[in-house]
Amino acid sequence: MFGGVYNSRRVLVTGHTGFKGSWLCKWLEILGAEIAGYSLAPITNPNHFELSNLKVKSYIHDIRDYDLIKKVMADFKPEFVFHLAAQPSVLESYNSPLDTYSTNVMGSANVLEASRHTDSVKSVVVVTTDKVYRNNEWNYCYRENDELGGHDPYSASKASTELVTESYIKSFSTTNTDMPLIASARAGNVVGGGDWTENRIIKDAVVAASKDKKVLIRNPNSSRPWQHVLEPLSGYLLLGQHLHQRNFDIVGSWNFGPALSANLTVKDLVQLMGEQWDKVVGEYHIDSNAKHEAQSLMIDSTKARIVLGWKPIWDIKKTVQYTIEWYRMHQHIQGNYG
Ligand SMILES: NC(=O)c1ccc[n+]([C@@H]2O[C@H](COP(=O)([O-])OP(=O)(O)OC[C@H]3O[C@@H](n4cnc5c(N)ncnc54)[C@H](O)[C@@H]3O)[C@@H](O)[C@H]2O)c1
Repeated sequence: MFGGVYNSRRVLVTGHTGFKGSWLCKWLEILGAEIAGYSLAPITNPNHFELSNLKVKSYIHDIRDYDLIKKVMADFKPEFVFHLAAQPSVLESYNSPLDTYSTNVMGSANVLEASRHTDSVKSVVVVTTDKVYRNNEWNYCYRENDELGGHDPYSASKASTELVTESYIKSFSTTNTDMPLIASARAGNVVGGGDWTENRIIKDAVVAASKDKKVLIRNPNSSRPWQHVLEPLSGYLLLGQHLHQRNFDIVGSWNFGPALSANLTVKDLVQLMGEQWDKVVGEYHIDSNAKHEAQSLMIDSTKARIVLGWKPIWDIKKTVQYTIEWYRMHQHIQGNYG
């Protein structure tokens, strides 16, 4: 897969202790890569990073420390950088806007700047989100050239990350062929086994179900593009491959969303989970004082389909099925979730 480009090559993943980062490391491990990770320590117990037993050289440091990330790159000499480290929660961003901005915006600038000063680096993929678009609550899918925006601090921080990335591309990436090539990737709401982050619907639902409780839903009518974690990761790996091959057409921003049919409301998703495991039952409490979150969000991945040949593989039913199976298997091995 990916033209064998990762085999025996050095890859740095920031955010490797997190949900998506640990899955990416697992895939890279299977592809034969030599991997280093740069992140804070995992904050949940259990967590997918420790469960995966990864063969990764792990650097536990803050992404806001430019000197450290630069030193790690100088020592490890990666050819590929996948930047996933971030404060990834909309709700948490209301509690800690400054931490969110410093981690997401300056953290990304640090990674791009360190990559620019590390001769070995050929390819940098910056992971942002579908929430970078100015959300007009309309019924169209957002495309890569739609306006950026951000109501909450998380979305604004990721839109800002896009601006920083675009500036690095325009200033350094295309004009000088010795510099690493850079792309940004915007994915939807990712689900899959091993996500223990607070306020994520699948984790909340399986934990409640394992205790024979209903899962409390605050935004039942919000619609999101749900996708399995492996889907956008395949897009990131494709970007890394093409950037490494110095394909200048790949420089820029990319959507990796699910098929339109995977845009479900939270309520519909809970119902689908209930079809896989009858103990998953929702209890709906619409909180009129809840912090603002977008109601509707869909992204268009035509560019990735046409240019990269990327498309989502699993439909929403299979995505939910494999995710629920993962947690039930884990619960079977570990015992009831406490
Ligand atoms: N999970 C989703 O649905 C989703 C959707 C779209 C985009 N994303 C993006 O994907 C990336 C990964 O998200 P995730 O769901 O795996 O989140 P996660 O919380 O599981 O992982 C976040 C990672 O970032 C690291 N990190 C956070 N602050 C840091 C700091 N100051 N210094 C160093 N490392 C730090 C953590 O240690 C962890 O490894 C993020 O950039 C997120 O914004 C996630």
